[in-house]
Amino acid sequence: MKTQVIIIGGGPSGLLLSQLLHVRGISSVVLERKTKEYVLGRIRAGVLEQGLVGLMEEAGCADRMHAEGFTHDGTLVSYGDEMFRIDFAKHAGKPVMVYGQTEVTRDLYEAREAVGGAIEFNVEDVVIHDTKSDAPYVDYTVRGEKRRIEGDFVAGCDGFHGVSRQTIPLDVRREYEKFYPFGWLGILSETPPVNHELIYANSERGFALCSMRNAQLSRYYIQCSLSDSPEDWTDEAFWQELKRRIPKEQADKLVTGPSIEKSIAPLRSFVTEPMSYGRLFLCGDAAHIVPPTGAKGLNTAASDVNYLYNALRDFYENGSKDGINGYSEKALLRVWKAERFSWWFSSLLHRYPDQSEFDLKMQIAELEFLRSNEAAQKAMAENYVGLPY
Ligand code: APR
Ligand code: PHB
Repeated sequence: MKTQVIIIGGGPSGLLLSQLLHVRGISSVVLERKTKEYVLGRIRAGVLEQGLVGLMEEAGCADRMHAEGFTHDGTLVSYGDEMFRIDFAKHAGKPVMVYGQTEVTRDLYEAREAVGGAIEFNVEDVVIHDTKSDAPYVDYTVRGEKRRIEGDFVAGCDGFHGVSRQTIPLDVRREYEKFYPFGWLGILSETPPVNHELIYANSERGFALCSMRNAQLSRYYIQCSLSDSPEDWTDEAFWQELKRRIPKEQADKLVTGPSIEKSIAPLRSFVTEPMSYGRLFLCGDAAHIVPPTGAKGLNTAASDVNYLYNALRDFYENGSKDGINGYSEKALLRVWKAERFSWWFSSLLHRYPDQSEFDLKMQIAELEFLRSNEAAQKAMAENYVGLPY
């Protein structure tokens, strides 16, 4: 089989790239390890930057998002019983879209299937070859049958545990990593959100986040120990702890109910450089991971896809190699800014086991400064809604 762009990974990065390329008449094949049902079963954050909204519109997949998503013009930050609002419209001139990332992936699958997009599921033993040539190819198996696909380029959209990053030789790769000494225990409940905007809460008991999927589906998180497991937390224990971490006025109106999903996610910051190796280009979690504070995972994947999509368009439509040659450097500039924001926002809101009394004073001083300073609020708003591509 031959195509122009071989895409490893059928998550949001791979699907968005494949659909955008299709719109420009550039062929691709997506190789996905799991089934579509498995991919769509992953619960993920739900805050989209305008850049991603624009890409979904360009890909022709934005109708349901606009019909069912919510635009948010701000977010709330609380510490103890104090709470203040960051006004995105005032400080950054644009909102964010609240729409489940699982729905983004679902919309992309529907769009690919509607045009007969080539997606192979249950793919195993993927090996990427000859990325330093202008004719890379990928060997893989499906149900034990060996297959090969030849292309002009390979997009590694296969997430943190994929094979693409490993294809770049260790003596070429530089990796940067930070582990956080806590996790997020998250639940999904068929209850109305406690507030129409998100609440990011710093409390002496640890971080909490009040989010939502729609008017009847809420998503809540509390910082927890890395040694915890979801089974350690009854729904009642979760609700009681959440109420102790958000302002009393919010806790008093919190509508609780049975969890329909409960899971714990560790937090990590990670970047690999470079994000390309010959004609192999890494996108999304294959190249970088952020702590979920600020929901920069998919949004940073989207900026990678934006750069790679436009670079490939420039190659096929204008014969220019400038975009593909400059992809890694350009993508990394924005990746590191997203890593910084996600790290800063996590440092602002979480309780760290080794924090001294002075550290805690600095955290509260930072919150007070953010609360009282327009420039600080503008900086946060511009990062939260998404820096320019
Ligand atoms: N071969 C084929 N497919 C693979 C392989 C492999 N060797 N390894 C992983 N995959 C698939 C996974 O099954 C998954 O569906 O690649 C896909 C990667 O998807 P994600 O992990 O979601 O990564 P990405 O598409 O970059 O999404 C980035 O979006 O899901 C949100 O916030 C989340 O940060 C994440 C962001
Ligand atoms: C979510 O709704 O799951 C969510 C929202 C914002 C975040 C992280 C997760 O920063």
